[in-house]
Formats: sequence, C-alpha cells, structure tokens
Amino acid sequence: MKIAVLNGPNLNLLGTREPGIYGSVTLTEIESMLRSQCEKFGVELIFRQTNSEGELIDWVQEFRKDADFYIVNAGAYTHTSIALRDALSGAGVPTIEVHLSNVYSRESFRHHSMISAVCAGVIAGFGAHSYLLGLSAALMLKKK
Ligand code: DQA
Repeated sequence: MKIAVLNGPNLNLLGTREPGIYGSVTLTEIESMLRSQCEKFGVELIFRQTNSEGELIDWVQEFRKDADFYIVNAGAYTHTSIALRDALSGAGVPTIEVHLSNVYSRESFRHHSMISAVCAGVIAGFGAHSYLLGLSAALMLKKK
C-alpha cells in the first residue's frame, strides 16, 4: 500500500508559524512520525510540501497511478481552490483531508472547504496527530 501525503502553502514553516494555533512540531517531525508508523504497517510513504497551487495539482495528477490514498493538508488552498478539488475528483484516489487546527472554531472563511465534498473524510483540530489519524483512517478504509 502506498500513501501520498501532500502539504500546501506555509506548512513548511510549522514549528515557528503561529505555534499557538499550529503547535511547535515541524513538518519534518510530522514526516518522521508518519514514516515510523508507515514502516510498522508496511506502507510506502510519499511526503511532499509546496507553496504553489499548480505544483500541488501536478502531484495529485502524477501520483494517481500508484497511490492507494492521499492525505491532503492543502493549507489555505483548502478554502479557495476549485482547481485542486477538480484534480482530486479527477484522480479518483480516496483522499483524507487533514488540518492541524480546528478550522470550524476559527474565522468563518475557514469554515468552507472546496475539497471536503470529494474527500472520504475530514480530520481537523488534533495538531500533528491529525496526520496520524489520517493514516489510521486510510488503514481502516483499506481493510473494508
Ligand atoms: C490549516 C488550516 C488552514 O485554514 C490554513 O490556511 C492553513 C493550515 C491547518 O492545518 O490547520 O494553512 O490547513
């Protein structure tokens, strides 16, 4: 089983970016946590981050042939990108949307996600653990 974890804009700054909201764990640490869990479960992990909407979409298109699941934290593109939604919808790869923060307890512009409707489910508000819960969700869906 192969999972591609795709991260959008500003997530490269985790650790120093608004730690009161996003916590102090860096993206590299999140990747390591996920890698050790993936090793336990024999899952192959692709882990990427970009600040560019186009690159995010390129990866959704590129990995569709071999990824069994996507775990996507699209950052602010979550709330704005119809193009990302179309890419995910077209890729046909079951996708788990994750957010570190509880977007529903924040500004109203974060309450709407362009991508949720084309995702298998959404995990938000558990900090770095949202990603591990995302992996758990993928493993659960795989067993079904
Ligand atoms: C985020 C929530 C988004 O609203 C925000 O733009 C981000 C991070 C999260 O993980 O909590 O960049 O996706």
